Amino acid sequence: MSALKKNALKKREGWNSRLGVILAVAGSAVGLGNFLRFPSQAVGNGGGAFMIPYFLAFIFLGIPLMWIEWTVGRYAGRFGHGTAPGAFHRLWQNRWIKYIGIIGIFGPLVIYVYYTYIESWLLAYAFFSATKSYFGLTTAGALGGFLQNYQGLTPGSTLWAAYVFFLLTFLANIYVLRRGVSGGIEKLARLGMPLLLVVAVVLLARIFTLGAPDPAQPDWSIWNGLGFLWNPDFPRLLDASVWLAAAGQIFFSLSIGIGVILSYASYLKPKDDVVLSGLTSASVNEFFEVIFGGSLVIPAAFAFFGPLAITSVVKSGMFNLSFVTMPLIFQQIPLGSVFATLWFILLFVAGITSSVSVALPLISFLEDEFHCSKARAVRIFGWVAFVLCQPMIFFLGHGVLDEVDFWGGTFFLTVFGLIETVLFVWVFGLDKAWDEMHRGAHIGIPRIYRFIIKYITPTALLLIVGSWFWQQAVPVFLMRNIPVADRPYILAARLGMILVFAALAALVRIAWKHKKPGGGK
Ligand code: ALA
Repeated sequence: MSALKKNALKKREGWNSRLGVILAVAGSAVGLGNFLRFPSQAVGNGGGAFMIPYFLAFIFLGIPLMWIEWTVGRYAGRFGHGTAPGAFHRLWQNRWIKYIGIIGIFGPLVIYVYYTYIESWLLAYAFFSATKSYFGLTTAGALGGFLQNYQGLTPGSTLWAAYVFFLLTFLANIYVLRRGVSGGIEKLARLGMPLLLVVAVVLLARIFTLGAPDPAQPDWSIWNGLGFLWNPDFPRLLDASVWLAAAGQIFFSLSIGIGVILSYASYLKPKDDVVLSGLTSASVNEFFEVIFGGSLVIPAAFAFFGPLAITSVVKSGMFNLSFVTMPLIFQQIPLGSVFATLWFILLFVAGITSSVSVALPLISFLEDEFHCSKARAVRIFGWVAFVLCQPMIFFLGHGVLDEVDFWGGTFFLTVFGLIETVLFVWVFGLDKAWDEMHRGAHIGIPRIYRFIIKYITPTALLLIVGSWFWQQAVPVFLMRNIPVADRPYILAARLGMILVFAALAALVRIAWKHKKPGGGK
């Protein structure tokens, strides 16, 4: 090993244990997507039939990309890189590829700025549940009003409470990040993941003992609610949008295509297993998603509101399930305040183990490429993210958060996944990639995955990205679906994102300019 590599290895942090890193990756993956997004997607896309494209997407996209990101990350870490610009440059010594890798810092940063704000609503609602602040509001309209009031969206409302909870959440994230990979993120995951499991089991037990809570509607039982979610509507499989929704859910939920797993894996040792660890973390995520995500909100909402109302509840937005429907349900059961508090704590913990992961790429980038100390990198990240969070808070009503979510949380995920796969398998080369994956592996990958990773995964990703351009690029770019009054805000958000991307590009340029010859241009 060259002195340069040895130096890089010495300086970087590392995980304390194999279990710790698996829990951290699972913590990044298990989030709001599992408990809120997944059930809404399933109900809206054919119920049980949705699970067919969903599992196919898991097998052909999810698992391969998990392995690819773990492997690329561990490989890049050997050279002292924890983010995609350096990783991509190691896979392909092309002078432009590092700029494409910026997506792997930009995407997570953008996700961080809105995800943390939503996370802070969960903390606030845990407090409101414990203090019964919204108890007594017994209609969806009234609870919706409570939420909008909190978000400063109703005339005369103020944002101070939302801002206080935002600050608390933001500082909690910074605290964890400041303590580092093993001292902060790993410890949080070791504490948070078992807590998530316990709280989810308690809530599941409570919901499954509800029976049919409305004596006038004996058919509205929890079990029928499960049937409602899982009854397959097979004709929906002919609809391409159902397949896209399934792939999108797998990406979002597993945290793949963002660049965070790459950063996490860069702190592994060169011979740490990635095959079994990647598979385990993906399986933990699926367990939380299918078992808990599929059994909590929808069956509960079914038992209280019935099959007709539930579809409109789902269509009214995935956050309504959490902030409107669940508080309504918890008010109607004994010890409702306790269970409501647990529900929001569950979501908050799921949220924070994900938000620290999306913060890490920019911090790693500053540490690795600019040799900033941890304290300095976290401070820079903190100020940048803090400033970028402000439009999410103050212009929420103009759709800024949804806009940023679309680019950071949906569009760039697939693009990044596609580029990463092509680079690793086609440019770096499948044979080398296969060897790299199996370095230190505790299990072998079935050989069929050579074919899948080489042909099926990139083709499917290409189809997804291509069909987006074909069907939606023009209306999205021209803001056709955005109310005219909101367009200036959306335009400003887009310009802001372009500026962030340009600033990151400038940083990459500066960092590589100062690299020693041999580090690669
Ligand atoms: N994977 C994270 C979630 O499901 C982002 O929320």
